Amino acid sequence: MATSPTAATADPAASNLDRLTLRGSHAAIIGMQWGDEGKGQITDVLTQKFDLVVRYNGGANAGHTVLIGEQKFALHLVPSGILNPKAINVVGNGVVIDPEAILSEIQGLRERGVVIGPNLLISDRAHVVLPYHKVQDRLLEQALNQGRGGGEMIGTTGRGIGPCYADKALRGTAVRMGELLDLPALRDKLRHIVDVKNHMLGALASGYGQAFEPFDAEAIYQQCAAWSQQLGAHIRDTTDLLHNAMESGKRILFEGANACLLDVDHGTYPFVTSSNCSSLGIYAGSAVPGGRVGDIIGVVKMYTSRVGGGPMPTELHDATGEQIRQTGHEFGTTTGRPRRCGWLDLVAVRYAARLSGCTGIAATGLSVLAGLPELKICVGYRYKGRDLPSFPADANVLKQVEPVYEALPGFGRPVAECTSFGELPGPAQTYIKRVEAFVGVPVILACVGRRRDQILVR
Ligand code: IMP
Repeated sequence: MATSPTAATADPAASNLDRLTLRGSHAAIIGMQWGDEGKGQITDVLTQKFDLVVRYNGGANAGHTVLIGEQKFALHLVPSGILNPKAINVVGNGVVIDPEAILSEIQGLRERGVVIGPNLLISDRAHVVLPYHKVQDRLLEQALNQGRGGGEMIGTTGRGIGPCYADKALRGTAVRMGELLDLPALRDKLRHIVDVKNHMLGALASGYGQAFEPFDAEAIYQQCAAWSQQLGAHIRDTTDLLHNAMESGKRILFEGANACLLDVDHGTYPFVTSSNCSSLGIYAGSAVPGGRVGDIIGVVKMYTSRVGGGPMPTELHDATGEQIRQTGHEFGTTTGRPRRCGWLDLVAVRYAARLSGCTGIAATGLSVLAGLPELKICVGYRYKGRDLPSFPADANVLKQVEPVYEALPGFGRPVAECTSFGELPGPAQTYIKRVEAFVGVPVILACVGRRRDQILVR
C-alpha cells in the first residue's frame, strides 16, 4: 500500500527550512538554465511555508520530479504543492492544459494516496490543449525539418504546447478551460474550429507527403463533455481567488515550469518553449501584479543539461558528459530522452538571474559533480576571436561561441551525507562561492541529493 506523502511534513527538511528567511509574503521558484534543474524538489519542501502554490506557465511539457521517502512523483501539470496537504494548488491562466494529461496525473496521484479535491484549482482563463494541437506539433516539426533539408529541429516534446499558445494568440481558434462549463456553446464553436484545423493541417500534411486523419468535431466535443464532468469542480476564476488570497494575507509560492533560457521572449529563441518561463511570466500568467513577489529563488544545477535542439556552449560530447548524464540520471521526466550534459555555464546563469530578478540561488546537482577529479565553469564567451560582453540574442551566435573556462578542483569526497554548508568539502564551498561571486546573487540553499532532507539551508 502507498505511504501517504503527508507524513513527509514532519521530516527533517521542515526544521531545516525554518532557518530560511524570506523577504516578503510571496516567492517564486524558477529554473535558471534550460530546465530540469530540480525545481520540484525545492518547491515541494518550500510549499510548507506557503498557503498557495501557483503554476503560471507551460503545460504538460514540464516534468517536476519529487522524491518523498522511497516514492518518486513525476508531476507535469499539477503544482508540486499537491504533496503538501495544507496547500491550495492553482493552475494559472498562463498554463496550457491537456485535460487528458492532468486527469491521468490526478488519477496516478490518488492511487498513491494523495488527496485531491478543492485543493486543486484550474483557471477558467487557461487554454485547453486539444488533440489536433499535438498533431500540429508533429506535422510542423516534420515539415520544417524537410524544408530545411534536415536542419536543426526545435525538438518539441510533442505535447501540443506551441500550437495551443499560437491559438491563444490567434484567439478565434482557441478554447479556454472556462468554456468546458458551457457545453452547448462549445459544441457549436468546435464545429468551426475543427473544420478550420482540418483544412490547415490536411493541406500541410499533403504538401509534405505526411499522413493525416481529419478530426471529428463531435468526437472532440464528446471528449470535452467528459472532461467537463471530471474537471468541472476544479475550474474557477483563479484571478479573483489570488487577489482575495493576497488581500487576506495568504502567502503564495509561484512555481515556474520549464526554465529561463527556454523563455519565448528572452531564451535561446527559436529553441525555446512558447511561454514566458522566467519570472516575467508570473504577472501575466497568474494575474498577480509585478513587484508583489519579494523572493525569486533561482534554481541552478551546478552543471548544465538541455533536452531537444538549440545552442548549449558548454555541452560535453566526451566521457565526462556521459558520466554526468549517468550519475545525474539525466533522462527526460516527460519524454525519457537522454539530456545533453556539460559544465556549468555562468554567463547563461547570470543572464537568467538578471532577467528574473533572482534574489537567492538554490544550488542543485552537487552530488553529481562529487565524483569528478576536476571541474570547469564557463565565465565568458569568445566569438570570432573577441569576448562577448553579454548573452547573445542570436542562437546562431551562441552556437558558435567558444566558452572561456575556469578550472576548479574536484570536491574530493561525496557530499550526499553533509547536513550543513559547513560540512561540505572545502572545494565544494569554494565552487559555491565562485558561483555567487560571478552571478552576484547569494546561494541560499544547496541540494546534496534528491531527498527532502538533503536540502541544506545556508
Ligand atoms: P515544447 O515546449 O514542447 O514546444 O518544446 C520546445 C523546446 O523546449 C524543446 O527543446 C523541449 O525539449 C524544451 N522543453 C520544454 N519544456 C521543457 C522542460 O520542462 N525541461 C526541459 N526542456 C524543455
